[in-house]
Amino acid sequence: MLKQNIPAAMTDTFTLANGVQIPCIGYGTWQTPNDQTRAAVSAALGLGYRHIDTAWCYGNEQGVGQGIRDSGVPRDQLFVTTKHWVTARGYEQTIAAVEDSLKNLGLDYLDLYLIHWPCVLRSDAAWEEINAQTWRGFEKMYNDGKIRALGVSNFQAKHLDALEKFCTVKPMVNQLEFHPGYLQWDNVRDSMERGILVEAWSPLGSGAVLQNELLASIGKRYGKTTAQVCVRYALQNGVLPLPKSVHPVRMAQNADVFDFALSEEECAKIAAMPTLGFSTYLPEEAPADALAGLLKK
Ligand code: A2P
Repeated sequence: MLKQNIPAAMTDTFTLANGVQIPCIGYGTWQTPNDQTRAAVSAALGLGYRHIDTAWCYGNEQGVGQGIRDSGVPRDQLFVTTKHWVTARGYEQTIAAVEDSLKNLGLDYLDLYLIHWPCVLRSDAAWEEINAQTWRGFEKMYNDGKIRALGVSNFQAKHLDALEKFCTVKPMVNQLEFHPGYLQWDNVRDSMERGILVEAWSPLGSGAVLQNELLASIGKRYGKTTAQVCVRYALQNGVLPLPKSVHPVRMAQNADVFDFALSEEECAKIAAMPTLGFSTYLPEEAPADALAGLLKK
């Protein structure tokens, strides 16, 4: 398991298996329309975020790039992640996809690139071989210096087993849905045991857990909001949270989580919460809404 200390400040980092440092809170951009992304990313960087998470299928890589340029933050102080979408599976397609994302972002390298989804459809019998070809493209771009770290998203043990069978560069990150009410500890622990850093997508359950009474009562004890309890819970458990907000006050709030600590008892209560806010997205099948949107283009 990767031994990581609990970060003590927003500028602290987790260390990936290849030694690359990754800022401990990332700014999430899922569901932010491209025309709002520029201002949101620039505001987040102005508030001290140094880690931005996007994906080709979010359709907002251009806005992320514009926001980065507007912010004036030097490239070498930033950590930028984007993700490979299922429409670009295969070796050549993956190389073209990296170039496309770099062009959208206006960058000449990525800090982290993830396979976004392990399978397109449940009937996708060839996923193992297809992911192998895709990963060869990842490794080529990594070895060429276009990407500093490689990873996956929404992968379960069987998907990681298949990838690790043939890869020469192992995945360093697995980005999973992770929030109070949907912690999927079996998958999280499995990745950690492989030395893979887990990142939390929807650390606030896309907003669905923010009215929860238990989280609110825990937060009240420390003068913190439910959102801050969620972010803190991830950090205290060695998981890197990627909270998303387009509002600067909330962006600042989501990063103001270093002056309190949840007790073991509180963490246990959070871990025992019944399912709440689960996206219903399954690793065996890429989200139909995202696929439908792309097929219409
Ligand atoms: P908004 O962008 O309008 O602020 P997640 O990070 O789990 O995907 O959750 C994002 C959702 O939670 C968005 O709807 C976002 O809305 C909302 N949100 C983010 N931060 C906060 C906060 N501190 N307080 C309340 N709602 C928040």
